[in-house]
Amino acid sequence: MWITFYVAFLALLLIPAHAQPGFISIDCGAEAGVSYTEQSLTINYVSDENFINTGVRGTIASEEINRNNQQQLWNLRSFPEGKRNCYKINVTRGSNYLIRTTFLYGNYDGRNMLPMFDLLLGANVWDTVTIENASLDQSKEIIHVPSLDFIQICLVNTGNGTPFITAIELRTLKNDTYVTQFGSLELYKNWRFDLGSNRSYRYWVDVYDRFWYVWIPDDWTKLSASIPDDSLKQNDYRPGATIMSTAVTPANDSAPLVIRWEPKDETEEFYVYLHFTELQALTGNQTREFNIMSNGKLWFPNCSPEYMKVNTLYSKSGTSGKEIKFSLERTENSTLPPIISAFEIYRVIDLQKPETLQGDVDAITSIKSVYGVKRDWEGDPCAPAAYLWDGLNCSYNGIESPRITALNLSSSGLSGKIDPSISKLTMLEKLDLSNNNLNGEVPDFLIHLQHLKILNLEKNDLSGSIPSALIEKSHEGSLSLSVDQNPYLCESGQCNVTKKKNIVTPIVVSICGVLILLIAVPILWIIKRKKSKDSVAVNHQNEISQQSTEKDDSFLQRKSQMYSYYDVLQITNNFNRIIGKGGFGTVYLGFIDETPVAVKMLSPSAVHGYQQFQAEVKLLIRVHHKNLTSLIGYCNEGSNQGLIYEYMAKGNLREHLSGKYNESPFLSWKERLRVAVDAAQGLEYLQNGCKPPIIHRDVKSANILLDEHFQAKLSDFGLSKVVPDDGASHVSTIVAGTLGYLDPHYHSSNRLTQKSDVYSFGVVLLEIITNQSVMAGNEENGHISERVSSMISTGDIRAIVDSRLEGNFDINSAWKALEIAMACVSPNPNERPMMSVVVIELQATLATELARTEHNNGGDSRYSVAAVSVDLDTEFMPLAR
Ligand SMILES: *[C@@H]1O[C@H](CO)[C@@H](O)[C@H](O)[C@H]1NC(C)=O
Ligand SMILES: *[C@@H]1O[C@H](CO)[C@@H](O)[C@H](O)[C@H]1NC(C)=O
Ligand SMILES: *[C@@H]1O[C@H](CO)[C@@H](O)[C@H](O)[C@H]1NC(C)=O
Ligand SMILES: *[C@@H]1O[C@H](CO)[C@@H](O)[C@H](O)[C@H]1NC(C)=O
Ligand SMILES: *[C@@H]1O[C@H](CO)[C@@H](O)[C@H](O)[C@H]1NC(C)=O
Ligand SMILES: *[C@@H]1O[C@H](CO)[C@@H](O)[C@H](O)[C@H]1NC(C)=O
Ligand SMILES: *[C@@H]1O[C@H](CO)[C@@H](O)[C@H](O)[C@H]1NC(C)=O
Ligand SMILES: *[C@@H]1O[C@H](CO)[C@@H](O)[C@H](O)[C@H]1NC(C)=O
Ligand SMILES: *[C@@H]1O[C@H](CO)[C@@H](O)[C@H](O)[C@H]1NC(C)=O
Repeated sequence: MWITFYVAFLALLLIPAHAQPGFISIDCGAEAGVSYTEQSLTINYVSDENFINTGVRGTIASEEINRNNQQQLWNLRSFPEGKRNCYKINVTRGSNYLIRTTFLYGNYDGRNMLPMFDLLLGANVWDTVTIENASLDQSKEIIHVPSLDFIQICLVNTGNGTPFITAIELRTLKNDTYVTQFGSLELYKNWRFDLGSNRSYRYWVDVYDRFWYVWIPDDWTKLSASIPDDSLKQNDYRPGATIMSTAVTPANDSAPLVIRWEPKDETEEFYVYLHFTELQALTGNQTREFNIMSNGKLWFPNCSPEYMKVNTLYSKSGTSGKEIKFSLERTENSTLPPIISAFEIYRVIDLQKPETLQGDVDAITSIKSVYGVKRDWEGDPCAPAAYLWDGLNCSYNGIESPRITALNLSSSGLSGKIDPSISKLTMLEKLDLSNNNLNGEVPDFLIHLQHLKILNLEKNDLSGSIPSALIEKSHEGSLSLSVDQNPYLCESGQCNVTKKKNIVTPIVVSICGVLILLIAVPILWIIKRKKSKDSVAVNHQNEISQQSTEKDDSFLQRKSQMYSYYDVLQITNNFNRIIGKGGFGTVYLGFIDETPVAVKMLSPSAVHGYQQFQAEVKLLIRVHHKNLTSLIGYCNEGSNQGLIYEYMAKGNLREHLSGKYNESPFLSWKERLRVAVDAAQGLEYLQNGCKPPIIHRDVKSANILLDEHFQAKLSDFGLSKVVPDDGASHVSTIVAGTLGYLDPHYHSSNRLTQKSDVYSFGVVLLEIITNQSVMAGNEENGHISERVSSMISTGDIRAIVDSRLEGNFDINSAWKALEIAMACVSPNPNERPMMSVVVIELQATLATELARTEHNNGGDSRYSVAAVSVDLDTEFMPLAR
């Protein structure tokens, strides 16, 4: 019986590490192996031992323990040694996390000196921590989507006291909440308020463990109601019944309720989340309705919070300015004043700077462990640039991952052989290993470091002959090679002479050999174990890049359409030439077997989960049609995700219409119709020829590319599947930045259909006909369809068609094209034609124009008459599938 009791007791103690799903709660400085449930919070904390190897455990002063009753605040880890010390925590890449670090000094070191230090997240500066009150805990909190399978939280000693940390908490949020256009969200000045409440809350009142603070200005009146947990209708933000059961209204019934602040920096961008619920059951003659103004402009009209239901209104894009002011103003007929239960204010911070290329990180990590390098080598080797590892130099190239270009380990007490990991640092230009005790040969792999310009191996115990290729390079002058003061080293020719050895040596060696063997076996074993422990981040992508460095030039022959990042570097000649920039990333010119290709590298914010990206891309690679740009291959290594397309020599339709190619004759009416037919056919194929059908979602003139024969091809199709949602499908309070091509019905219904692509195509067709900009100003009738529509009533087709054509077109075909375009942009999706109908109608239109130009035999000479008739045949063939 005692035994069962004991077992039950043990089971209670051994609560699983993450008792709250989606929570990672780390008590920094807690004793190794500890896992406990904090009594007042009911949150399960674990010790930080598995997440860091450095630092010193500490405990706050006993009077502070009395003052701060939460157990996770009692311990901390401080970092008296090293400039940068890092926690490494495994996460799910692409998931949405609330990440919070907590600091409570509590005079743990008895010195009563309040420190100040920097906080990094991976390669990015997150914030500066300034401890202002020894007795108060303070937190830094962000909402962030990690692009790797782990995050690194680093504390940096900036010379203002010893860094320390008390707790780290990660909470998984729902994926499509707190979405930004760019960057991560930092809670602004702890402005997350549970309005009308007397006390602050966190878990379990809030399922996501957000901290809700108290704020009660004088001119607000508190309201409260009792809302049981299960009667509140929640939304994805899930503020919870306790938070929503209190609210405020203006003390003066007719005055507005105002939230305003003045940012330090006018360019700072803010995201605002307002949570409402009606606390009263309104009677028949009562109404509560208010408009929400943002800096004087209507942000959300006629807001009427629903009874016992959470309504959340939020920014879809950042707001900035000298002053930011949200004002809730009662409408004329409302019998009750505005009400609000809670709000949150976030500031955008850019945490998108890329980490060092994974292959380089793995190599340098391995070098560090092989030689037991005693330096402050913690966190990301190259980034941020200000915290570059001592002895390294790196190249930085904007959105691409930094690469290690120099390694200087001179006078570092290294012994053993020159480690093969060095050969994985493929961008190395300088290698200095001088003044150590390195032995063995000068390895051949150094030859393969193509960029190496300086190699210093002086003052070691290297032996054997120097690879002749290195000597050649040095004679050519492309490599500065220093090998002096290695007593046993020789150039190829002279080796026999120096290899003559003392007779005593073999005997000494054989005796020592046994001893060394006896000692070396356990040591090797330890090193091996250590190695595998240190290389936690090694993953499958590493194997790919390894493969390609070994086979070097064979990658072009590989059947697979998957390319390593190393391949991509070769194809694009280190991202040498930019040929385009888009929302999803930058496009570079590259060459595979001398065939030009366009390589689109997705920006880190657009990077997707490994599996999903792979699956979608494989699907798209199979789509082939003469009017769709072919996807040739892809790269999928960590945050380096890229797509390789066929290269389209003549740019895009938008550029042609805007007159960028002034030198070439301006697109004639016939050519325009041909482009329209091509694009329509491409789109029609996506809708009817593909199973499952593909919705393009981004049809626009800039996405219609022309090859050297002016054949038009639709590009970027299916990218909406490959690249995560850009936020356009979220319920939003304001229609942010109308793109002009976006189906207004999609916006209001949130349902994406094939008819949305038809709408966008109609807009493109209007552009082709009129060459007007899609949006003019911000006026209501700014959209091209509205402007054209009002001109149609005048009946003057010449005034509508692009004046640059100088009347050189068939009037009937112009009317016909216009008719098709206007049908495509019908507000009601049901009135828009099927793409197959659009194709047939446009082909007929083209035929009319061809008939005319053939007659005139003038105009455009680029198409011979013979070619025209051949084209005509094929154009009117039934579409083969
Ligand atoms: C969020 O997205 C990530 C990556 O795409 C995925 O692994 C995870 O399961 C998603 N989480 C939820 C709750 O949908
Ligand atoms: C620090 O915070 C404690 C607790 O809120 C407060 O009593 C004390 O006055 C503060 N000390 C200073 C120096 O502000
Ligand atoms: C807040 O405190 C006031 C005064 O102490 C009290 O009247 C009110 O009921 C409290 N409100 C809540 C929601 O606890
Ligand atoms: C209440 O607000 C209205 C409108 O802002 C203002 O005209 C009125 O003077 C205010 N009343 C009091 C008592 O402050
Ligand atoms: C609303 O209606 C109730 C009866 O249903 C009545 O007693 C009350 O005076 C009315 N209030 C207003 C403002 O008209
Ligand atoms: C307010 O109510 C009056 C009378 O019922 C009505 O004429 C007016 O249109 C309403 N105003 C608004 C903005 O709804
Ligand atoms: C590091 O590289 C940069 C640019 O390549 C160069 O300007 C700088 O001098 C290098 N620093 C060292 C210490 O080699
Ligand atoms: C490597 O560092 C040492 C001193 O730290 C310096 O003297 C030497 O010039 C450096 N080597 C190179 C190649 O920059
Ligand atoms: C993190 O993930 C790596 C690789 O999947 C694994 O080897 C390591 O044990 C994990 N670390 C922790 C603390 O769970």
